[in-house]
Amino acid sequence: ASWEKQVRHSSTPRRLNGFSVLVTGAVGFIGSHCSLALKKRGDGVLGLDNFNDYYDPSLKRARQNLLSKHQIFIVEGDLNDDALLTKLFDVVPFTHILHLAAQAGVRYAMQNPQSYVRSNIAGFVNLLEVAKAANPQPAIVWASSSSVYGLNTENPFSERDRTDQPASLYAATKKAGEEIAHTYNHIYGLSLTGLRFFTVYGPWGRPDMAYFFFTKDILQGKPIDIYKTSDQKEVARDFTYIDDVVKGCLGALDTAEKSTGSGGKKKGPAQLRVYNLGNTSPVPVGRLVSILEGLLGTKAKKHVITMPRNGDVPFTHANVTLAYKDFGYKPTTDLASGLRKFVKWYVNYFGMEPTKSIKGTQRADGSS
Ligand code: NAD
Ligand code: UGA
Repeated sequence: ASWEKQVRHSSTPRRLNGFSVLVTGAVGFIGSHCSLALKKRGDGVLGLDNFNDYYDPSLKRARQNLLSKHQIFIVEGDLNDDALLTKLFDVVPFTHILHLAAQAGVRYAMQNPQSYVRSNIAGFVNLLEVAKAANPQPAIVWASSSSVYGLNTENPFSERDRTDQPASLYAATKKAGEEIAHTYNHIYGLSLTGLRFFTVYGPWGRPDMAYFFFTKDILQGKPIDIYKTSDQKEVARDFTYIDDVVKGCLGALDTAEKSTGSGGKKKGPAQLRVYNLGNTSPVPVGRLVSILEGLLGTKAKKHVITMPRNGDVPFTHANVTLAYKDFGYKPTTDLASGLRKFVKWYVNYFGMEPTKSIKGTQRADGSS
């Protein structure tokens, strides 16, 4: 394969000192930021992504261009291609996997449920099968989600709170990922760290997320829906800025212990951890919109509606004490400063032409 030649002839993903990290979902929003941060501090990085068209793949290509300027190579392929994955591990002795590839998005699960099962369950198991057989066995840090808390009403959410009331199929597949991780840790001694991200936003973000398509719609003078709960409470999210999340991912990688291997070679229990990575400060969606109005200098055409039963949860709020204790995770960006950076990127990327559209900005009803 063409990637093999390139990877064999480059020292990039291999490192004598430091980590050698396979980043899955590397041209995704969080994956591209993490790949750059790892590379900048001197770790070896190889990316994997299937470039699917859940949202405009041209944005993924643009992220890939950015990564290639930093000598980060991306292998185009699917998590479910076990021959490809095995080959990757034959060529590069990865010390770590940062597994971010998934079918993301909460509401889209009503339109395409199977894509969640394929990537988030079957694809995750396939990756774990290859990791378990690799020598050395890599330590794995993977993306779970705040959505696992579902309809839990604890406020804020702590890692030990109940996660047995998922509100969407997306949440159910992320919760399944946590259970699956438990079994691979238990049987095969794989070191596994799950990160529950809370509504992550920022430059190079995802066009299917509310802050992104609200920006587009406000600039184009189109109406937006702001959800309220049936008891007229404001729907709120613990919006978390990308740079804070990247620091959390690197902290989790840095504190990941080695896998211990299975059977007689087992030296002790391998590490199994789950952390919240949120901002610890929930903000109502209405407030998100008023910050955007201020930054864009335009009023939104707001429709306040009762939240449809579409997989959304009424609020999220992270307690991050555990991540702080174990790897010093401390979010430092408030929503207004983070959105300012996002809008600056957006305006620059799209050339501030309100008519230049981007595909994949799904709404609850699937229209765009
Ligand atoms: P993203 O969609 O931008 O990135 C995911 C990437 O994975 C995409 O580039 C996609 O092409 C790739 N991918 C999907 N299925 C694949 C497969 N089967 N094989 C290979 N590549 C595949 O999403 P993101 O926002 O960067 O999210 C990264 C991870 O974090 C996901 O696991 C997501 O569920 C999780 N997460 C994200 C948020 C958030 O707010 N952004 C919050 C909680 C959890
Ligand atoms: C986001 C990501 O899309 C998921 O992939 C991720 O797993 C999840 O965060 C998480 O934290 O685990 P979500 O919080 O639904 O999911 O993010 P958005 O789609 O950007 O929605 C943000 C808020 O806006 C939600 O409260 C939603 O109810 C609200 N919203 C959405 C509206 O008020 N109007 C809309 O038209 C759409």
